[in-house]
Amino acid sequence: MTVNKQPSRVVVIGTGNVGSSYAFSLINQNIADEMVLIDLNKEKTEGDAMDLNHGVPFGAPTKIWAGEYADCKDADIVVITAGANQQPGETRLDLIEKNAKIFKVIVNSVMDSGFDGIFLIATNPVDILSYATWKFSGLPMERVIGSGTILDTARFRFMLGDYFGIDVRNIHGFIMGEHGDTELPVWSQTRIGSEHVSRYMEKYKPDATKEDLDKIFVNVRDAAYHIIERKGATHYAIAMGLARLTRTILRNEHSILTVSTLLNGEYGLDDLYIGVPAIVSRNGVERIVETDLNEKETRQLHHSAQVLKEAMKPVFE
Ligand code: 2OP
Repeated sequence: MTVNKQPSRVVVIGTGNVGSSYAFSLINQNIADEMVLIDLNKEKTEGDAMDLNHGVPFGAPTKIWAGEYADCKDADIVVITAGANQQPGETRLDLIEKNAKIFKVIVNSVMDSGFDGIFLIATNPVDILSYATWKFSGLPMERVIGSGTILDTARFRFMLGDYFGIDVRNIHGFIMGEHGDTELPVWSQTRIGSEHVSRYMEKYKPDATKEDLDKIFVNVRDAAYHIIERKGATHYAIAMGLARLTRTILRNEHSILTVSTLLNGEYGLDDLYIGVPAIVSRNGVERIVETDLNEKETRQLHHSAQVLKEAMKPVFE
């Protein structure tokens, strides 16, 4: 029997904390056949490739090497994690000018290789840099995907699961909007198993309060600040989220995830990338799932969009 399936290839650009944790996640989950590492610091990528290759015998066959932009030509997915990251006290939006300049160079170099796959963007501010990648690359919007609020949604589900003492996989809820200070919890759609969260509280946890839930959201929104204060960076959870997105794409899973994607009238908004639930498959973003929001949530989403649009202006004017 001959096997002539093209190997799946993922290129990781930027092998700092996030890029290298992502690479580690990917080989542990046996998601791609080939993984190429690119960074300004070539020696670091060589070291990472050697170190990761030596772990392959404990996992599944994956070909890993320190590469060049030319390797993007045959890539299914290019993941960008490169750029400056937040220092203690900095917001994600503070990074815009520095990282937009870096992105122009990176995206042009990837496109010059003849790349025709899917971009996954994780660098902050992720919504604006995803929009920038879409603009700079000229690729269709469905093939430029930002990590959006996948991590915030994971934090939200984790903290609710912890509070209620319920398996996180049975917590169905999500965070929408900017991956940043103006994001919002969609309480009107948050369920524990089959029960709306407020009904679950009435029935099974009468000591739970709305104030506790509000505090949970604040901790979700500010989680990155709390982690950065303690260890200087966040990387494991976002790396796992990016691996999840990669798997969804390469295995055509049609998962609904809160990615950053281009809105074209959905929620009354357009011409910006922002975190919303969407179906992700081998083609990228298949469809935005336009969920019903109540009045307050709609107002919060519009505010978040407004803040992003203001922040984008200097880059795209
Ligand atoms: C995070 O939320 C800093 O965006 C990064 O962990």
